[in-house]
Amino acid sequence: MSQKIYFTNSPARIIDEYINDSGTPKTFILTDENTAKCVLPHILSESRQLRDAEVITVKAGDINKNLDSLSYIWERLQNGGATRRSLLINLGGGMITDMGGFAGATFKRGLRFVNMPTTLLSAVDAAVGGKTGINFNGLKNEVGAFKEADAVIISTTFFNTLPLEELKSGYAEMLKHGLIDGKEAYRRLISYNIESADWDNLLDMLEESVNVKRRIVTEDPFEHGIRRALNLGHTIGHAFESHSMKHNSPIPHGYAVAWGCVTELILSRLLLGFPGEELHRFADYVHDTYGPFVFTCEDYPELIELMHHDKKNMSSEINFTLLKDVGEIEIDHTCSEDDIKSALDIFRDLMHI
Ligand code: GLY
Repeated sequence: MSQKIYFTNSPARIIDEYINDSGTPKTFILTDENTAKCVLPHILSESRQLRDAEVITVKAGDINKNLDSLSYIWERLQNGGATRRSLLINLGGGMITDMGGFAGATFKRGLRFVNMPTTLLSAVDAAVGGKTGINFNGLKNEVGAFKEADAVIISTTFFNTLPLEELKSGYAEMLKHGLIDGKEAYRRLISYNIESADWDNLLDMLEESVNVKRRIVTEDPFEHGIRRALNLGHTIGHAFESHSMKHNSPIPHGYAVAWGCVTELILSRLLLGFPGEELHRFADYVHDTYGPFVFTCEDYPELIELMHHDKKNMSSEINFTLLKDVGEIEIDHTCSEDDIKSALDIFRDLMHI
């Protein structure tokens, strides 16, 4: 992985040095309407190099991560005279780093881009590792490319204006990295109270967490094997997310991942002997931080059907990443529908539903 990742309390200084050192002739900033109001003015007031940058603003929300917005970005780059030596800065959450990354990968067959994630979720996941793309024809991330940002600038100073729900959502991906990585990092994470986060502490923990992803992506950039470890919690998490969306009570992505991790640890316990004490401790932490995800056994068929549609499956069987213990990963595990139903029963018990 050649991409440089900065962890800093002074993002404007880092981007100024980056632009200065790379001799960038023209800079574009891609952002969305919310970030343009909450974050962009601060970074523009603190940076010298960004004063003349051309700002491209798109509508906020994953629904706008589409071909129309992408076409608008290409048009603005073209009209603004972008060349392969230009720099595109993607300032925003995962929607912006995904779509801006794809614009950067494709415009003139590729121009340099830097990700500046402004949410914890995008800092810990989307901004790092080179997955770029847009939603298409009703399917999420259907069209895209693997293309790493030249640099990622991560700063908790961007998180000041984030609602607590957004912070907690991003923290779930950190918990996932802790479970994958091993006991020491994991212990720190489940002893931390994200509801009263201290930005300096969080920056240190974020660095440790992003480095878990960095190590895995370096080993397997195109997801042929071990990168699938990063899907822990996501097979069931995506089913929870889609189910809640279909029933008009959408849940944040990270909440779905946290509940998905609990259910997949239950499967890990049933099938691989994951330690019961660890499972209970994790389930209690998730219950206290995220509350319960409420459903009944009548929802099981629909949830299982959604799991069958997960694009990580290679065949008609449902594919999981499971753990033998914290830090002991088993990718490509298939489970029977009866195992999944038992895990959903136990999840409801552990969540006191
Ligand atoms: N979000 C998981 C990955 O980047 O592979």
